[in-house]
Amino acid sequence: MTHRVALWPGDGVGPEVIVEARRVVDALGLDLEWTELPWGSAHYHEHGRMMSEDWEDILRAHDAVLMGAIGHPSVPDPVSLWGSILLVRQKLDLWANVRPARLLPGIPCPLGGRGPADVDMVFVRENTEGEYAGVGGRTHRGLPIEVGIETSVFTRTGVERVARHAFELAAGRRGVLTSATKSNASRFGYVLWDEVVEEVHAGFPGVRVERVLVDALAARMIRSPESLDVVVASNLFGDILTDLAAAIQGGMGMAASANVAPGTDAPGLFEPVHGSAPDIAGQGIGNPAGAIWSASLMLEHLGEAEAARRVMDALSDVCRDGPRTRDVGGTATTAEVGNAVAQRVAG
Ligand code: IPM
Ligand code: MN
Repeated sequence: MTHRVALWPGDGVGPEVIVEARRVVDALGLDLEWTELPWGSAHYHEHGRMMSEDWEDILRAHDAVLMGAIGHPSVPDPVSLWGSILLVRQKLDLWANVRPARLLPGIPCPLGGRGPADVDMVFVRENTEGEYAGVGGRTHRGLPIEVGIETSVFTRTGVERVARHAFELAAGRRGVLTSATKSNASRFGYVLWDEVVEEVHAGFPGVRVERVLVDALAARMIRSPESLDVVVASNLFGDILTDLAAAIQGGMGMAASANVAPGTDAPGLFEPVHGSAPDIAGQGIGNPAGAIWSASLMLEHLGEAEAARRVMDALSDVCRDGPRTRDVGGTATTAEVGNAVAQRVAG
């Protein structure tokens, strides 16, 4: 069966890293068909929208989407992001954002005395609601009494499904699930969050669950990352904690993500966490590791576990032996790293 993959390079360094991820996947020689999507900020300037009007049909006609990044200084962020990735996450109901944060051998860690044995976490971020529900408004515009309201939305279904997925992942790993909360200050949303996590726990007696206030959790990630296995977090907490996790695993260029709806036939969307990085775009120096890692997550989602492992092994070897880009202590270009990984994958 041919895998149909939509390739969405996007903006900034997106196209530069995504071409390397594609090169690596192509080196596997799988039965896989790419459709390139010309969507992003240039598309917006030309057509007045970030994606084509029938974007949902196009994406649903694929098994997976491999995306670079979205965002350009010429388009206001809320316009470009609510016209693309945030809309896609919500409308395809890709309710889990799974972000592995593992320190690969050879990658410098900013935490003194820490190595790969200390950093092996998976974040499961709720991906469609919470602080990203898009509910709110502004009134009294321009007046001194102007107000902006942004409402967090927590549904039982939303918390339940993401918690269940996190418990399942934890059960297959070291058996520890940490739930990020803020139910000391919050009286409603995170109190519901805690209750639902506790209820879902009943079905996973083999997993130890701990409820940790998000501020304390941020400190703990720095002081004892080895104590964390799977972390489940709301949309905004997950966003913030995974930038911190990315720094611990060597920087934004290393981090990968999977936007998925496990148990459904929605196409997963796979993207590096780093964003469009306009400051270094066009220079050929962006780190393709996060994009290549995301491609590996995509292969797993497509049922190609062996291919996924080959890509991760090759990426891991290249991180250990070089070449490496400058953000992780090397001098190589984006393409040199991509080529090196592709060569190892091809054997
Ligand atoms: C991420 C990004 C996005 C988010 C932005 C670009 C809207 O930071 O995927 O982590 O906040 O979810
Ligand atoms: Mn983010």
